[in-house]
Amino acid sequence: MSAAPEKPPEPSKPAKVAVKNEGKGAIPTAMGMGGGINLRTVDAFERLGHIGAGTFGEVYQARDKVNGRVVALKKVKMEHESEGFPITAIREIMILKRLTHKNIINLLEIVTSKGDVKHKGSIYLVFEYMEHDLTGLTDPAGGQIRLSLPQIKCYFKQLLEGMHYCHKNNILHRDIKGSNLLINNRGELKIADFGLARPYVPAEKGAKESRRLLTNRVITLWYRPPELLLGTQSYDTAVDCWSAGCILAELLLHRPLFQGRREQEQLERIVKICGVPIDKEPPTEKPGVPADMRPYWPGVHSLPNQEWLKDKKLEMYKTTRIKETFKQAGFNWPADALELVAKLLCLDPKGRISAAKALDHDFFWSDPLPLKEAAMPQYTQGHYHELMSKKRKQDEAGRGAANAANRPAGSAQGSQAQAGSQNGNGGGLDNAKRIKDEKAAIPPPPPTIGGASAQRVPPPPPPPPTQQPAAGGRVAPPPPPQGGAPTDK
Ligand SMILES: Nc1ncnc2c1ncn2[C@@H]1O[C@H](COP(=O)(O)OP(=O)(O)OP(=O)(O)O)[C@@H](O)[C@H]1O
Ligand SMILES: [Mg+2]
Repeated sequence: MSAAPEKPPEPSKPAKVAVKNEGKGAIPTAMGMGGGINLRTVDAFERLGHIGAGTFGEVYQARDKVNGRVVALKKVKMEHESEGFPITAIREIMILKRLTHKNIINLLEIVTSKGDVKHKGSIYLVFEYMEHDLTGLTDPAGGQIRLSLPQIKCYFKQLLEGMHYCHKNNILHRDIKGSNLLINNRGELKIADFGLARPYVPAEKGAKESRRLLTNRVITLWYRPPELLLGTQSYDTAVDCWSAGCILAELLLHRPLFQGRREQEQLERIVKICGVPIDKEPPTEKPGVPADMRPYWPGVHSLPNQEWLKDKKLEMYKTTRIKETFKQAGFNWPADALELVAKLLCLDPKGRISAAKALDHDFFWSDPLPLKEAAMPQYTQGHYHELMSKKRKQDEAGRGAANAANRPAGSAQGSQAQAGSQNGNGGGLDNAKRIKDEKAAIPPPPPTIGGASAQRVPPPPPPPPTQQPAAGGRVAPPPPPQGGAPTDK
């Protein structure tokens, strides 16, 4: 997606913004910064490139004309906001102002561009610039980096440290995924994109009934935990821990672990690897089925979508198969790595390991130890962001579609390609963020055994002319959602 051409900037003078109404729809003095504040205009920055096109904003690399600092400018999308400033941006700013940690992206300032009769004014969040994001860096259509075990430990430890800090401060991120984990050439990883984050009241602090119901329409589908898929509206920090488990599995497997296209299919994919959860204490003695392999989740049958678990085709998946999945894919990772994956991917959110406990897990204290940040590689051949990989995949898919169109009418593969892409976009999805990121299956890259240093793997072969667009990467984005971003009840 390319940005609409911007109106030439106003002369650079601070714009006085004083907003009395600090509720929904107010602009950024509402961010707890006190009364009126002076905001610079965006023409204080020289734009260098387009690096991100998210659901809630376009992101540009830019240089501060005053001090030469390179930054990321995130333009807040206003088009669906007849009511005023988008609530997602208000949340993002308020939460980022509360959080200061080396593994959380640093919000430097907010700048404006003034509107006129033809153009609406815009708000930009100015962030420290990070050269890469984890998806862009590791994607076969991006940086093609395969991380070694000590490198995976280094980045994953930083993810958990950032998450632990959020959770300690009673913030749920609710969109942990590779493209929201930014990486720089100093070996640092920082959690970004707090557009879906929100404060929450931990169970021990508030009476149960005072806990507000939250929307379950959050977290990109592939990283969404089973409790949200099953429809719960009462959840906690464990949702982020599940997403982190998906990230660790992905780093070890070199492909996303659960690649569903719709909610029910996503749950099925989870169950096929983690097992069908049972509500009652598992029997201790059952020939051929070790008790500790049965996923036990008290209360699972009272969740709104629990019928999905009764699907006949899931009956056979009685036990957890996480370790087998890695073995079958040809990976021979140490037992502690797979144990941590299994603890993060515990179906029962109450039994799932927390970020704090995960940091104490043997994974981080056994050989090979996590690399120090200063010893991490610099990826100097380019800047790798998800947008770049996405564009490449879209180009490939476009080429595939063009080839399909050139085939004689009625070609079976041509119509399959169409069906595949419709399938990926359809299914009554209900959330812009989710829909946008629901991806078609990417064929797994050839497995390698861990331990090697970061290396570029050879690029995947170009798709054969008859390949379905879906096989090359993400499906084409669906039409924009009605009603904007989800909000909590
Ligand atoms: N500080 C930054 N430095 C470098 N790149 C960044 C920075 N912030 C964001 N990006 C890039 O822009 C992309 C989109 O940013 P962000 O996730 O904040 O926006 P979003 O609209 O919420 O996106 P999405 O809906 O895709 O999650 C990121 O995935 C990343 O590649
Ligand atoms: Mg994002």
